[in-house]
Amino acid sequence: MYLTREEERIYDGEYGWAKQVCMRILAKLGDLFGAEKLIPIDSAHASGVSYKTLGEAPIDFLRALADSGGKVEVETTSNPQGFDPEYLAKRLPEGLMRGQLEIIRILERMGLKPSFTCTPYYLKDLKAGAHVAWAESSAVVYANSVLDARTNREGGPSALAAAIIGKTPDYGMHRAENRMPNILVELEQEPRRDIEFGALGIFLGKILKDRIPLITGLGEPASECLKQLGAALASTGMVNMFHYRKYGVSTEGIVEKLKVEQRTIEATVAELTTADGQKPNLIFLGCPHCSLSEIKHIADLIGHRKVREDLELWVCTSRHIKEKAREYVRRIEGSGAKVIVDTCAVVTWTQELGIETIMTNSAKTAHYAPTMNKAKVILAPLEECLKTALLE
Ligand code: F3S
Repeated sequence: MYLTREEERIYDGEYGWAKQVCMRILAKLGDLFGAEKLIPIDSAHASGVSYKTLGEAPIDFLRALADSGGKVEVETTSNPQGFDPEYLAKRLPEGLMRGQLEIIRILERMGLKPSFTCTPYYLKDLKAGAHVAWAESSAVVYANSVLDARTNREGGPSALAAAIIGKTPDYGMHRAENRMPNILVELEQEPRRDIEFGALGIFLGKILKDRIPLITGLGEPASECLKQLGAALASTGMVNMFHYRKYGVSTEGIVEKLKVEQRTIEATVAELTTADGQKPNLIFLGCPHCSLSEIKHIADLIGHRKVREDLELWVCTSRHIKEKAREYVRRIEGSGAKVIVDTCAVVTWTQELGIETIMTNSAKTAHYAPTMNKAKVILAPLEECLKTALLE
């Protein structure tokens, strides 16, 4: 990959170890994937923030970067961490909190925003065509498919390296020729509810691997349904983008077709429920983190009802959306539910919180919770989740 004179100086260490190591990561990636040059990015989004998923080993590397002056050059948001300061901090073991707070301190020293959300696109408008370096697979698919921004699926280190250099190698999803659909997916029936969008994503992710589908038959989906679809697609496959509007997309040269029958979607929904008669002790909404309109919708559906005493109801979102949604939050929390920020049921320590069975409307959570949380899962539509959580 070609480096400018200035980039070469960074590569050779003239601007310190932190920048040098980041430039070397980017150069290696660029060479590996055949990029010709680095391109500037508008923003970065870092993953590997939760102590639960990151673990102890990479903390020394992050600390070394910060100690040698590593600072982000572009606006850099951060993925969810392990706890909600208001509701979960006091319920979790001290050792876990210590590890998590250490990671947060290091990231803040490097200039990352303490946004702790998987939906950074709700924090500010992302322009169509903008080049960004985002980790967090659900946000990557949403940015490419719904917002028409351009990002590869970065890992934690490459997103951080791009943030510190302010550039990313020009390959993959950054290039127009790689963003065309290469398989046509026809749905027998429009998905009718949240869990069907998620189940479609889980099913397609396994089959498509890293191909880019043009999905026909989705109807006029709300952006939140596309968020569910994309999050699930990225959970079981390496899909970084899907197309869902026929206009403006060339179907020329697509030879592969896949028909998805409704019974396949229903079977996928059924497979994602692993609980076998167990009652949920957590109802978890907000994977990926809720938008403002989802928070409003949940507040409206809850109405004046109260949460049952034998379970918890969590509605997960970002600090940013919680702040904007104060009135709805007041109504939701009036029921006994908690509007949780900075984390989610998957990346916090649910076992330590005594949670064994999780009911959710998110196919992504249903896919991960059995392994990440050692929990039984019930996948059910939003309305059914609330019906289970609330007293009549
Ligand atoms: Fe976000 Fe947690 Fe789901 S990080 S995408 S709410 S698993």
